[in-house]
Amino acid sequence: MAAVFYTNKSPFPENKISVVFVLGGPGAGKGTQCAKLVQQKGFVHLSAGDLLRAEQAREGSKYGELIATCIKDGTIVPQEVTLALLKQAILEQFQKGSTRFLVDGFPRKMDQALSFEEQIAKSAFTLFFECPEQVMLARLLERGKTSGRADDNVESIRKRFKTFIDTSMPVVDYFDKQGRVVKVRCDHPVDQVYASVLEALKQRGI
Ligand code: C5P
Ligand code: MG
Repeated sequence: MAAVFYTNKSPFPENKISVVFVLGGPGAGKGTQCAKLVQQKGFVHLSAGDLLRAEQAREGSKYGELIATCIKDGTIVPQEVTLALLKQAILEQFQKGSTRFLVDGFPRKMDQALSFEEQIAKSAFTLFFECPEQVMLARLLERGKTSGRADDNVESIRKRFKTFIDTSMPVVDYFDKQGRVVKVRCDHPVDQVYASVLEALKQRGI
């Protein structure tokens, strides 16, 4: 990562990019819904978890072990790492002409929320997927059969649920108090959830 990504100044001219945060518990369906929005609405989808897994797998990464441990334990990777990866990914896409971003699985902790809005861009709003834990558990275990992910197993899933409640829900509550959260129930079939997502975005002028 180049040194420029460690500066605290946003590399983006003000109001030139539009960011929607996509949050929800593990297995809520964030990635699935984002993929549909990319197709129909021309968003660029950036998953913080995917960026971290790619960095973990990158040869020579000095964060590989740290990321692997956090992912397995369901804990949050220090924000400096995730923020730098996101900033770089957004910048790359911005330079290719993209201006609308779905930032999925981020911010997972208050410090990430504050730093992103200070150093990159203020989010337009947060799309929050509400889902009962037992539904998420069943989905993750099903996904675990083929995902190859180190954290799609019962032990890691329990830890991820705890982190979600203790560390990530305060972020949703923080934005919600500012009237900046759009909630969608997602314990329904994919297309039904997607219809609610489109409706929710429409309310926000998208
Ligand atoms: O979103 P996803 O389920 O792919 O995230 C997998 C893991 O990546 C999380 O459980 C966490 O360990 C790490 N992560 C993080 N900070 C984020 C997003 C993901 O530390 N903002
Ligand atoms: Mg995901």
